[in-house]
Amino acid sequence: MTSRKRKPAPAAFSRSAALYDLLYAEKPYAREAEYISALLASHGVKPGGRLLDLACGTGRHLLEWERLGFVVAGADASADMLDVARANAKARRSKATFHHRAFAQVEELPGGQDAVVCMFSAVNYLLPPDTLAALFGRIRTRLRRGGLLVLDHWNGFAVLAQSEATRVVKKAVGDTTVLRIARSRTQTMEQRVEVAYNYMVLRGDVVEQDFEERHQLAFHFPNEMRRAFVEAGFKVEAELPFLEAARAPTAQDFHITVVGRAV
Ligand SMILES: C[S@@+](CC[C@H](N)C(=O)[O-])C[C@H]1O[C@@H](n2cnc3c(N)ncnc32)[C@H](O)[C@@H]1O
Repeated sequence: MTSRKRKPAPAAFSRSAALYDLLYAEKPYAREAEYISALLASHGVKPGGRLLDLACGTGRHLLEWERLGFVVAGADASADMLDVARANAKARRSKATFHHRAFAQVEELPGGQDAVVCMFSAVNYLLPPDTLAALFGRIRTRLRRGGLLVLDHWNGFAVLAQSEATRVVKKAVGDTTVLRIARSRTQTMEQRVEVAYNYMVLRGDVVEQDFEERHQLAFHFPNEMRRAFVEAGFKVEAELPFLEAARAPTAQDFHITVVGRAV
């Protein structure tokens, strides 16, 4: 019997990077950045402050924070996402700096930051054996004393309440159509989710690209997240449903925002 080796799936956020901004065209980056900016200000970090966007992706939040007056830098593990971020920055005549660094390399990023921000559940891409507390400890070295770590993460309770999900996104620009089918599988006992993304790019009726990316994510419960902040030397100053400011999260809130202060 001959064995045909399957071509390895490309790494997460490599080939799909060029499609990311189109697929998330409706994501309200400006509103989200304003929400975080208001949260930072209410905890003492005002426009003019230095802000590092960890796992910045294509830089969409970061460019909004720069518009709001912050001095911004971004870092990401994906060179392809950073290529898009740099092009986005150039189009906006941004002064942002970008660094090709993964979570494991945070200590190589510029220090003295007033805040480190990590958005769109990017922290869920941190996988064992690396731990949240170890990552937050590395982030703390990049902050000035009293600086803030702000992130949003998947709420384990809400992840477990959702059944195996299939989501389809279809976008068209001119005669090009981009189709993405995402199938997620939750491994409850491992607190992991695997998402298989199938992408297809068509020009008219012709398939120009057809590929798969597999993403591995970990999810955490709110008490685990809080404990990791505290273990790493942060005081948790706020825990909110993402994009809300006036109530405590419940088990149904999928995205939770956490604000921690380096003490
Ligand atoms: C869902 S995207 C979010 C990007 C951006 N923050 C946003 O809001 O659009 C997750 C990002 O995390 C990055 N990422 C995944 N694993 C990472 C790691 N180990 N270190 C740093 N960045 C990572 C990916 O390259 C990707 O850009």
